[in-house]
Amino acid sequence: MSDTEIKKGLAGVVVDETAISKVNPETNSLLYRGYPVQELAATQPFEAVAYLLWHGELPSAGQLAEFEQRERSLRSLDPRTLQLLDAMPADAHPMDLVRTAVSQLGAFDGTLHEANGWTDRTLDLGRAEYLFAQLPTIVAAVQRRRRGLPLIAPRDDLDYSRNFLWMTFGELPSDAAVDVFRVSLVLYAEHSFNASTFTARVIASTTSDMYSAVVGAVGALKGPLHGGANEAVMHVLEEIGRAENVVPWLDAAIAEKRKIMGFGHRVYKHGDSRVPTMHAALQVLLEESGRRDLADLYAVLEAEFVARKGIYPNLDYPSGPAYHLLGFDTEIFTPIFVAARVTGWTAHIMEQSASNALIRPLSAYNGAEERHVP
Ligand code: ACO
Repeated sequence: MSDTEIKKGLAGVVVDETAISKVNPETNSLLYRGYPVQELAATQPFEAVAYLLWHGELPSAGQLAEFEQRERSLRSLDPRTLQLLDAMPADAHPMDLVRTAVSQLGAFDGTLHEANGWTDRTLDLGRAEYLFAQLPTIVAAVQRRRRGLPLIAPRDDLDYSRNFLWMTFGELPSDAAVDVFRVSLVLYAEHSFNASTFTARVIASTTSDMYSAVVGAVGALKGPLHGGANEAVMHVLEEIGRAENVVPWLDAAIAEKRKIMGFGHRVYKHGDSRVPTMHAALQVLLEESGRRDLADLYAVLEAEFVARKGIYPNLDYPSGPAYHLLGFDTEIFTPIFVAARVTGWTAHIMEQSASNALIRPLSAYNGAEERHVP
């Protein structure tokens, strides 16, 4: 072993600059291109946030209308994507289906880029917009197939959030519930050099293509220490069942050194900047649904865990139950995160591509000394 200092998990290591978002754990704040995420969540359609992440500025009314029109024209799936989903085992996890479908989109690029007037550079904005428009249709198709329901085509008279919910459920919830969904997408859109975004940047740094970088990012997001936690939160809440069970359940979980999903964060140690906004959004759904039982369970688990461990909830804690109350299957929660985070991933892929250096760290060797085959 060398005496080189090893930064396990790259903790605390600054590997590059970014102008896309700023996470500040000291002030518990998150800025997208300089704007506090709470302000964006309170005022902006998700399409405008995507535009902001990619272009660095919020769109004018004309720019937004033009982008919305383009996005709506790119929503329909190629029939081969539906065939691909059909060919998958019925018990495959939705994240496996989404990852595979994104990979297939890459194989369509040769014909698509000419039809859409995209450049030959496969790391450009045209691909980002295409992935952004396709992912809700893919996720909705995966959700409906799980329930054995016929697919619903996208509607070009609906904005991104409404169309996503329409394609999934065939009806629209209240405006307040649609807004909760939109808020969750804005909050999930971007978070600097998290594990999935860094994965995307590593792949982009080899000058591979955008689809490959996003496939890698989906794989990284799937893990329960990252995006898979919103799904895991729901499993934990279901396992505990009711507020009265929290104390004995936590006693056992802490004794077994279990990680409680939806709590803790590598960067934020005093609370996640996105949680208050998502927590308020969740309250809207809890009240609308009259689910006092879930509201109590959610509140008691948070209060007990914070009191005992001083570890605060992250965004996945309120968003898991919010997606449950919106009617999604638990296994669809992380695919929704994919649809939202593809905005940040693709912004980072383009930023990496514009100022590229191959990402290739070093390792300290701790294996056998040189030896020779007898
Ligand atoms: N439950 C129980 N203990 C925890 C938790 C948790 N959720 N999070 C951290 N800890 C404890 C660890 O066991 C460790 O204790 P120790 O020092 O006694 O060994 C200490 O706090 C430090 O934890 P690490 O895991 O080393 O901290 P790290 O910065 O690597 O972890 C992580 C961050 C992976 C997010 C962790 O908090 C975790 O596993 N949380 C649960 C999964 C989760 O919710 N992920 C979502 C992340 S946010 C997002 O993707 C939107």
